This record gives sequence, structure tokens and C-alpha cells, in this order.
Amino acid sequence: MYTTILTHIENGIFTITINRPDKMNALNKEVFTDIDSAMDEVYRNSEIKSVIITGSGSKAFVAGADIAEFANYTHSEAMALSKRGQVIFSKIENSPKPVIAAVNGFALGGGCELAMACHFRICSENAKFGQPEVNLGLIPGYGGTQRLTQLIGKGKSMELQMTAQMVDANEALQLKLVNHVTSTENLLIKATEILQIIQSKAPIAISKIIDCVNTAVLSDSAFTNGKSGFDKEAESFGDCFNTEDMKEGTTAFLEKRKAIFKGN
Ligand code: COA
Repeated sequence: MYTTILTHIENGIFTITINRPDKMNALNKEVFTDIDSAMDEVYRNSEIKSVIITGSGSKAFVAGADIAEFANYTHSEAMALSKRGQVIFSKIENSPKPVIAAVNGFALGGGCELAMACHFRICSENAKFGQPEVNLGLIPGYGGTQRLTQLIGKGKSMELQMTAQMVDANEALQLKLVNHVTSTENLLIKATEILQIIQSKAPIAISKIIDCVNTAVLSDSAFTNGKSGFDKEAESFGDCFNTEDMKEGTTAFLEKRKAIFKGN
């Protein structure tokens, strides 16, 4: 039924594994559709009590949106893509059942945004996090400008997005981007242990905690001039697609060379 993710359910824990290891599990249209449907299954299926999202292979959780798909997007198509990403990731964030990201390698761009949409994150020692979109003449478009700021604070969020620098597992722990760091072998074991504890508690109370905590981080600062930060992000993501620098950035990545930005 799914083409780009693997799913299985054991003891109430539904594991979603993004499965494009030859492309570092990059998020293309099909992956989005599959995650969307899998989350519908989470909401619908009473056998599912909690969720782990992870990536297949040993290198990547998800290395971002699929840059190859960006080539011919117009401003409005890019904005629609951003909105679609935001809506699907909000479905994860607002899931009444707990969702943990088990980050098993690179979590870059849309991958970091996917992890941040989960209720909390644990990672293996080889994990690396970052929002490197600016290298492509772009900005995060799936909620990253908002959620990174909520999670690690304004200054660090600005720095990571503006420098495109990655942080390793221990820095991610210090920044409170992840709650625990484990060995690669223990990552899913640790995620399962945590979810078993949560599953032993009252499910309605758990869903209320998710709702209340999510409400707490929707601060006034996310709403300016009548627009939410998410709306602004989608519009700005679209604006980037009207620039020559974005064309240069994405082409340079696919041609495996350094981008030369001109500011237009
Ligand atoms: N979109 C599309 N393809 C991607 C991708 C992405 N976000 N990330 C990796 N890939 C592809 C590469 O093009 C390569 O494909 P190929 O084998 O057909 O040439 C394959 O995955 C392996 O990646 P490669 O770059 O060769 O691996 P690496 O170990 O040298 O580097 C990364 C790993 C993650 C550091 C590097 O792939 C990278 O920087 N990816 C892009 C990250 C990014 O900018 N994400 C934000 C997107 S908005």
C-alpha cells in the first residue's frame, strides 16, 4: 500500500520508516503522500497507541526535501508545496497519540523539520541536524523557521539557519533539540522503552498533555500583522523560487559543485 515508507505495528507501537536509502530518504511527493496516509492510519486505527518515525539505512534519517523536484516550481507551486508540508507535519504535531522521532543519521532541511514536528526526539551518536536550505538560496519551508525557534530559542535558530551549519548528536542534546543520545544499535530499543512507559499511562491524559503543550508554544510572536509565522514562511519559501540564486543553488547541488550566489 505504501511505496516509500515501511510500516509495522508491534505491541501498539507503529513504526514508520522512511525508505529511500539511495537518496538519503529525501522527501519527494510520494513520501509526503505516504506519511500523510500513515498519519491518517494513526488517527483511525485503535490498535495504534504510539508512533516511532525513523529512516532506513545507516546514514540518514531524512536528508531534506528532494532537491531534484525543485527545478521547475513556480512561486505559487512552491508556496503550495510549503503549505502541504506544513499541514502534513502539523498532523504529526497534533496527533493525539505520542510520536517520537528516532533520528538515525542526517536530519537535514525537511528531515530536521520532520523530526521537530514529532513530540520529541532521540538520536543515535552519528546523527547530524541542520537547516542548510540557505546553501540552495532557500529557507526552511515545512515549519522549520517556527519550530526550530520554539525548540532552541531565537539566537541559535537564527545562527543555524543563516550559517547552514550542522550540529552533531551531543550539540543537539545540549541545545535540547533531542532528549537522549544512544548508540545506533540501541536507538529503536530506547524509543520502544520510552513509548512502553507512556503507553502504560492514561491515553486521554496523554492526548491532553500533547494538546496543552502544543498550545503553550504557539506564542503571540508566531502571529504578526495578522499572519502566522507559518503563513509568512510559506510565502517567503515561494518568493525564493523567483530568484536566480535559488536556481543556481539547486542546480549546483545536483551538479555536485559549489553555488555562486549573485544576490538576484
Ligand atoms: N534531495 C535529493 N537528493 C538527495 C538529497 C536531497 N535532499 N540528499 C541527498 N541526495 C542524494 C544525492 O544527490 C545522491 O544521489 P546520487 O547517488 O544519485 O548522486 C545520494 O542522495 C547520496 O548523497 P551524497 O551527497 O552522495 O552523500 P554524502 O554522504 O556525500 O552527503 C549529505 C550526505 C546528506 C551531507 C548530502 O547528501 C547533502 O548535503 N544533501 C542535501 C541536504 C540539503 O541541502 N537538504 C535540504 C534540502 S531543502
